[in-house]
Amino acid sequence: MEQTISITAQAHRKVTDTKSLPFGKVATEHMFIAHYRNGQWQDAQITPFQDLVLSPMALCLHYGQTVFEGMKAFRMEDGRVNIFRVEKHFDRFNKSLARMCMPAVPHSLFVDALRNLVSLDADWVPTDADGSLYIRPFMIATEARIGVKVADEYMFMIVCSPAFQYYTQPLRIKVETDYVRAADGGTGEAKCGGNYGGAFYPTALAREQGFDQVLWTDGKTHEYIEESGTMNAMFCIDGTLITPARSGSILDGVTRDSLMAIARDKGIPVEERPIKYRELVEALQAGKRVEAFGAGTAAVVAPIATIWVDGQDYTCYTGSDALMYRLRNWLLDIRKGIAPDVHGWNYIVA
Ligand SMILES: Cc1ncc(COP(=O)(O)O)c(C=O)c1O
Repeated sequence: MEQTISITAQAHRKVTDTKSLPFGKVATEHMFIAHYRNGQWQDAQITPFQDLVLSPMALCLHYGQTVFEGMKAFRMEDGRVNIFRVEKHFDRFNKSLARMCMPAVPHSLFVDALRNLVSLDADWVPTDADGSLYIRPFMIATEARIGVKVADEYMFMIVCSPAFQYYTQPLRIKVETDYVRAADGGTGEAKCGGNYGGAFYPTALAREQGFDQVLWTDGKTHEYIEESGTMNAMFCIDGTLITPARSGSILDGVTRDSLMAIARDKGIPVEERPIKYRELVEALQAGKRVEAFGAGTAAVVAPIATIWVDGQDYTCYTGSDALMYRLRNWLLDIRKGIAPDVHGWNYIVA
């Protein structure tokens, strides 16, 4: 059923300098909210940003039926605002929802909500070169009932927050061979809240040990690299872009997909395959040029300077001519409208 979105706007606050604020701290003026009841999406609204009313018995608070997306809008060179890769985020959102037994969001509802919300709060899309508007669509189970069951009622919401550089320094990461983020057949490919909660403890331990992040390995053998924090793991070894193949336990990252497509467009060899962390160590020991980086919406390309494996630090290449920086800049150029959008990734809203 088509949903009409009612919009309750408020007078625009002057957008102050948000650059010094930590990631995700400040919401824009409006939010989107729709309710799922009696098998239908209803009451779709854009309202001033506000707190929720939720029963303490809401199922999401007990059994983890929560799913989210993370996407961004960019200020283009000509001043217009572009939401990046709406279709891929929409598909991934619905795949995650299906995995968690949550109702699908219709395409028109998702796209209309995004377009209306981002247009209304367009003044919040930073003009700085490294700024963007982070967009968080998410769904929670709201049915009030403390019984282990699939909920019958949900809220689908979207909130936004101005964002700048996520990591300011190249990272030191630890190859994690004790703890597991996701196992075969689990929920690793879904963007559901529990995956993140479960990663906090091993990540906190790694931080205490002086690392910025962990590099997860597979749950069965702990030999194959999976991903890192909220980023897919990518490597450039002697000019080839290599990333772990999708295995069902890593996220199908939009940045990963975009960087692989750009590399292929530029004639750079791309390999999507299982990678043992030992292969990295051997390449580094053999004196090959190894670049390592995390790829994700929030961090874009986060260079990894040091990888710690079995008690030893290995240094990766982070020189200014690194391929990862060229890939990042090509991606930014498409988003900003400086380079042609040959794949149709930009959705211009304002
Ligand atoms: C676990 C995980 N892996 C990878 C990514 C990168 O995905 P994307 O490029 O779509 O942001 C994210 C962030 O969304 C993530 O949370």
